Amino acid sequence: MTASPFIAHNGFALPAQGLGTYGFRGEAGALAVRSGIETGYRLIDSAFNYENEGAVGWGVSGAAVDRAELIVTTKLAGRHHERAKALDAIEESRFRLGVDAIDLLLIHWPNPGRDHYVEAWGALIDARERGLVRQIGVSNFLPEHLERIEDATGVRPVVNQIELHPRFPQTEAVEYHRKHGIVTEAWSPLGRAGDILDDPVIVDVAQAHGISAAQAVLAWHASRGVVAIPKAATPEHQALNLIASGVPLTPDEVAAITALGVPDGRLFGADPRTHEEL
Ligand SMILES: NC(=O)c1ccc[n+]([C@@H]2O[C@H](COP(=O)([O-])OP(=O)(O)OC[C@H]3O[C@@H](n4cnc5c(N)ncnc54)[C@H](OP(=O)(O)O)[C@@H]3O)[C@@H](O)[C@H]2O)c1
Repeated sequence: MTASPFIAHNGFALPAQGLGTYGFRGEAGALAVRSGIETGYRLIDSAFNYENEGAVGWGVSGAAVDRAELIVTTKLAGRHHERAKALDAIEESRFRLGVDAIDLLLIHWPNPGRDHYVEAWGALIDARERGLVRQIGVSNFLPEHLERIEDATGVRPVVNQIELHPRFPQTEAVEYHRKHGIVTEAWSPLGRAGDILDDPVIVDVAQAHGISAAQAVLAWHASRGVVAIPKAATPEHQALNLIASGVPLTPDEVAAITALGVPDGRLFGADPRTHEEL
């Protein structure tokens, strides 16, 4: 099965870019979410573990756009994978967000050492059937995890949100997702605005298009069919970032940025095979 960029196997469509919210908390966080939506973001990321579902919900409810246009995302934490805990946590997330239903709910990490992620996936399916959630997906899942949950339930995630930036371009995962109609979302898509933004390859691409290095990286994600979710607190960065997804890079430019990847390019070494996040 193949899928168009940003459209999942079941027809669920995502915009090329969403707003990351890690670290957005309280009133300042809520205002940053509201500003993001008013700047044009329609996909908003969050997670139970970011302790910001309240701020995100406040930003969503205060923004002057039709609620139906928004895809409000949150994630089930690792300590809530068992079925009863999962359903309680999902209801709590829905309540904190202040929404009638969560538009997109992801399992945050597979935590394979604890081995409850298949049960968690069953709970997400139940939550969708109960109307608490509209679309369900995962985060940080490897192909072996994706295959196991689909074999166990017959239900395929619409999204896999994974670490992905020029130092860790995840070419095999992106291709696997594309073949299976799973949309790839990139977390830390700017590499947390670290020294990657000074790399001469990225600076050259940016100069060729009259854009900044951060914008060139976001143009690279969109050209690869990957939904980037940069965190940007200021309206200036938010606006610059959104424009960037519409800048087409040449195949050579895409290949040159992808070639910056290195095997140990993860930002903090969190390999889903072993990483535990509860
Ligand atoms: N599923 C997971 O396990 C997981 C893990 C990590 C993150 N995430 C999600 O992914 C989101 C994004 O990742 P991230 O926050 O780690 O890192 P990121 O988006 O790669 O980088 C954020 C940094 O980039 C800066 N920035 C944004 N736009 C810029 C621009 N145009 N020019 C220069 N600097 C710019 C931001 O500063 P300003 O805020 O000042 O603009 C901030 O310091 C998170 O917020 C979270 O929602 C998910």
